[in-house]
Amino acid sequence: MSQNLWTKVEKYFGGMIAEDAALKAALKDCAKAKLPPIGVAPNEGKLLMLMAQMIGARRILEVGTLGGYSTIWLARGLSEGGKLVTLEYEKKHAAVAQKNIERAGLADRVEVRVGDAKETMPQLVSEGAGPFDLIFVDADKQGYPVYFEWALKLSRKGTVIIADNVVRDGEVLKAKSKDASVSGVRKFNKVVTADKRVSATAIQTVGSKGYDGFAVLLVK
Ligand code: SAH
Ligand code: DHB
Ligand code: MG
Repeated sequence: MSQNLWTKVEKYFGGMIAEDAALKAALKDCAKAKLPPIGVAPNEGKLLMLMAQMIGARRILEVGTLGGYSTIWLARGLSEGGKLVTLEYEKKHAAVAQKNIERAGLADRVEVRVGDAKETMPQLVSEGAGPFDLIFVDADKQGYPVYFEWALKLSRKGTVIIADNVVRDGEVLKAKSKDASVSGVRKFNKVVTADKRVSATAIQTVGSKGYDGFAVLLVK
């Protein structure tokens, strides 16, 4: 079992998913703007869309936009009249995302908000923007424990929270890791497990971007 095989299998399923022109152009423009290639894979993107559809999401929050690739998938899962808010710290990333979202014909239902999610999430709370039906947490990993707390404040009973990158090549097992991303994810996993307000699980994944995984939480 190898990275090479994981990449081939991702391509195999990616071919079946067949990204449309807007998704392909989004990835191209992300690369052109030299954004780091750390967005979700096509099969994970489609899973996000399907999960939104499964729960009939009308309000979606994304924490960590990058170039808007996962945003496009999520927004396509919105039910009629739905809205998505996506939070991004880097102005440059947000600008690339905005263009990609416009080209995908989703600008009418997606708001890209620039700023540190540690500030924009509390802003959303004070605006009464919640509750969201689906929240995708995918920004800096050291921030996950804080994003979890704010996500709960923006949730209702039945809200689904998905947190990306909770395995980190298995680094998540290292209790003494000096990597702030690893300790952030470890703390996130710990507080989620201890929190009676949610029921959660985690799924390991492999693909072109290596070995990782995501957590799925249901707010009780
Ligand atoms: N969801 C995207 C990938 C996101 S990568 C996709 O799958 O296509 C993580 C993003 O989080 C980066 O663009 C990074 O700039 C952003 N980020 C990092 N720290 C942040 C913060 N404190 N607040 C908001 N966004 C942040
Ligand atoms: C990184 C961030 C992500 O959201 C991801 O899916 C993969 C890698 C990173 O910061 O390295
Ligand atoms: Mg991610």
